[in-house]
Amino acid sequence: MRQLALFGLDSKYNVASPARSSFSHESVCRENARLALEKKYENIFYIDNRFNRKIVSYQANKGEIVHGWIKYREGFSAHLVEILMNEFGVKSGESVLDPFAGSSTVLLVAKTKCLNAVGIELLPVCHLAWDAKSRFYDYDLDELSEIKDLVENIIPEATKSRFPHLKITETAFTDETENDLMFFTEWVEKLSVSEESKILLRLILTSILEEISYTRKDGQYLRWDYRSQKIIDRNEIRKKQGKKLIKRVDKGKLPTVKDAIVSAISVVLSDIRALQQFQFNESSQELIKGNTLFVLPELEADQFSAVITSPPYCNRYDYTRTYALELAYLDVGNGIFDLRQSLLSCTVENRPKMDVLREHYAKLGKEKECEKILDIVTNNPAFVEIIKALKIRWDRGDMNNKGVLRMVEQYFMELSFVYSELFRTCKTGAHVAFVNDNVRYGGEIIPVDLLSTNLAEQLGFEPVYVYVLPQRKGNSSQQMGKFGREALRKSITIWKKP
Ligand SMILES: C[S@@+](CC[C@H](N)C(=O)[O-])C[C@H]1O[C@@H](n2cnc3c(N)ncnc32)[C@H](O)[C@@H]1O
Repeated sequence: MRQLALFGLDSKYNVASPARSSFSHESVCRENARLALEKKYENIFYIDNRFNRKIVSYQANKGEIVHGWIKYREGFSAHLVEILMNEFGVKSGESVLDPFAGSSTVLLVAKTKCLNAVGIELLPVCHLAWDAKSRFYDYDLDELSEIKDLVENIIPEATKSRFPHLKITETAFTDETENDLMFFTEWVEKLSVSEESKILLRLILTSILEEISYTRKDGQYLRWDYRSQKIIDRNEIRKKQGKKLIKRVDKGKLPTVKDAIVSAISVVLSDIRALQQFQFNESSQELIKGNTLFVLPELEADQFSAVITSPPYCNRYDYTRTYALELAYLDVGNGIFDLRQSLLSCTVENRPKMDVLREHYAKLGKEKECEKILDIVTNNPAFVEIIKALKIRWDRGDMNNKGVLRMVEQYFMELSFVYSELFRTCKTGAHVAFVNDNVRYGGEIIPVDLLSTNLAEQLGFEPVYVYVLPQRKGNSSQQMGKFGREALRKSITIWKKP
């Protein structure tokens, strides 16, 4: 068995090995290549009790200083980042990268540990989160306390300013809430306070949108309260058509905009007060606002000592729909469609980006690298097997959306570009950690963790561990209904640049 000396781990499995012995429901499709991966990497599987669902998700960030300023449910916890940074032995002066930075958990932990860090992220709501959170040391507590007093004593007036709705956000607020929200939005912009305080107030206003609205972010979907006009209208139509009414969601009494702002400022004030007591040594963190597929190839080589990240999962989750309210408020407008297309392919609507990516690599004089990456991924036996299996499943009528095929194909092709660029931009000896979930479509299990590890190995990395969470992941109700329950791995893959 492989020596597990690196991180001082002393036990391998406390339950059965997480390796799978089948991938294709009722053995409809070939699974040899996937089985070969399980065998190849069996020795680096590690079920680790330090990593549970809570710490690999945002849950453990709730109530955490700074990290809780805006709920980014797709985030991982600061605690997980700390564990990995410690294991990788990242030292002051060294730099960590997160190519899918989200709410900037990695950047913020780096800041408190005085490490340098670079993040890359597409969504404007995450940009605002970083702009506000990263300034925790610069805020003037007296000014913020005065603003809080002002808000407490203000009575919102009628305003002509309108919420910049998108089709999918219409009727998210009561008229009164929408008026008050826009009143405070204008009020903040006119306040004569520092630019820092304004940025913070913009984040606060963005962070309360869900709680003051008729919407709730719930797993894959944005759910709507039964009182919203959208649901009333839809149900009316369904009733006429004799269809079952939409499941009732009742958010109960919603807070007023003013109360929500006051409560958010109180939390933020107390966090800032606590943080400003610490003296942090000089370090630098930067969030690059852009598409990681296009930004990474432009970064200098051999600069990062570690990468800690979690890409969008290959699970049809659409960030631009879940965060539609926040994106609309930040005036993204029709730009939301471009944003959706720019995200790593993880929805059935994503169109292939390979042509534009090819052009980008050509512009950088990197045509050969581009073709090499494409060659590796498109000839990878497990990748080929999975794509063939999904085609068979589609032809058999085992899948309800053909877009899944393109999504899975593009997902691994795009990720291969990321893996290759990480290899190039990492220093020798650097460690890379990817948090991801395995998925299942049409009765075919896709071992995202091992296929990624295999692609990363082909692109130069040395596979080190596949940490598997003790709790497995369930399946979508559709997969369960048709193909039975199969527990899927949720893993953190660790690779090293030799
Ligand atoms: C699983 S989340 C990461 C969350 C992060 N670890 C945190 O703690 O908040 C994945 C992130 O990748 C971003 N993303 C997806 N495609 C991207 C792309 N092509 N370029 C940059 N960011 C992208 C999404 O907007 C999302 O915030």
